[in-house]
Amino acid sequence: MKMNRRQFLLSGMAFAASGILMACEEYASQTLPPSESNPLSGTSKDDNQTETGVPGTEEGTPGESDGFVHAAPFDLVNGNVLLNNGIEMPILGLGTFNLSTREAQTSVTNALNSGMRLIDTAAAYNNETGVGAGIKAAGVPRDQFFVTTKLWPSNYNMNGIDAALRNLDLDYIDLLLLHQPSGDYIGGYKAMEQAVADGKVRAIGLSNFSTSQFDEVVAAASILPAVHQVETHLHNQQAGMQRYIDQYGTLLEGWFPFGGRTNCQTFFNLPEVQEIAAGHGKSPAQTIIRWHLQSGHITIPGSRNADHIQENTQVFDFELTEEEMSVLNALNRNAAFFPGLGVTDEEAQERMQQWANEWGLNIN
Ligand SMILES: NC(=O)c1ccc[n+]([C@@H]2O[C@H](COP(=O)([O-])OP(=O)(O)OC[C@H]3O[C@@H](n4cnc5c(N)ncnc54)[C@H](OP(=O)(O)O)[C@@H]3O)[C@@H](O)[C@H]2O)c1
Repeated sequence: MKMNRRQFLLSGMAFAASGILMACEEYASQTLPPSESNPLSGTSKDDNQTETGVPGTEEGTPGESDGFVHAAPFDLVNGNVLLNNGIEMPILGLGTFNLSTREAQTSVTNALNSGMRLIDTAAAYNNETGVGAGIKAAGVPRDQFFVTTKLWPSNYNMNGIDAALRNLDLDYIDLLLLHQPSGDYIGGYKAMEQAVADGKVRAIGLSNFSTSQFDEVVAAASILPAVHQVETHLHNQQAGMQRYIDQYGTLLEGWFPFGGRTNCQTFFNLPEVQEIAAGHGKSPAQTIIRWHLQSGHITIPGSRNADHIQENTQVFDFELTEEEMSVLNALNRNAAFFPGLGVTDEEAQERMQQWANEWGLNIN
């Protein structure tokens, strides 16, 4: 049964309310100028859109009476958030891009033993088996950790989902994303919906979609995307995308929280970051993570270093002031390192293939 957008949103609200437990150019054009991009400043409005709440603030409670869903605010004490389908997701986790199977195994065990409860991987990272082994070694009960993986376009079907379950050696995946807006992503989304019905997956979402591709999925969907994972860091803050997806109650999850492996030192050395970090007796990495969390971004810093992983968990015992948030928000340049994601033309496909080759991604 097809619904119009408003009916869909209203049914999404009912869905959320019933508590069922069960980077691209376009982004840049949707992103507000730096002065307006502080979600905590109370100026979080986009003139082109119906007013929406911003996750991490009191405005954005699910089921508000404007007809939109709205994402829930972050619980910055316990480190969780309620997704738009009523399940709880940790807001800080470990990213495993660029980690070998063995590195993923060790780092996942270290992360879980350090108290991190969210692990992010993908079929394309070729390390799901290491993630699964790391989970087993940590021995944390299944209902106390949360695993995200992503399907690659060549496997946007139930076989891809079953392969992820096998590789991870899990009975269910907490959050499954379509990695790229490429191939048969509508068919892939429907396969994920079927996997939710089958009890193989608890929540589903997207990664690297433009707003129009996002809407295309929503129009064909019967389950709203719970999360959209996009390139998000100090120089590419994604405030416009965050507000756009909030109408569906979808939360933004940021990849490259430190700007990625090649750029993280540049971000750590920014004078603004250094000064704010010193003022709190925290490291630059902790300061940036805290900025993400206070901005309402679920964040998944990547690391293969046990000390860094432990350090990255220590971000719930301090708070950035509104002024400090404004200073960091002003670093926005709407500058993605991978601006072509979300574009489906042939040139973009070729570029994606090139990156995949460079990064050794397992995309076939
Ligand atoms: N959906 C997508 O298309 C997509 C794309 C890219 C990434 N991702 C996801 O997002 C995650 C994060 O991105 P990323 O890992 O590429 O980049 P990142 O998190 O921005 O940066 C990782 C870099 O930060 C360093 N680091 C981590 N904690 C540190 C600390 N406390 N002090 C100093 N250095 C620290 C790491 O080095 P050490 O290893 O030495 O700690 C590594 O060099 C990925 O792992 C992946 O799960 C998704």
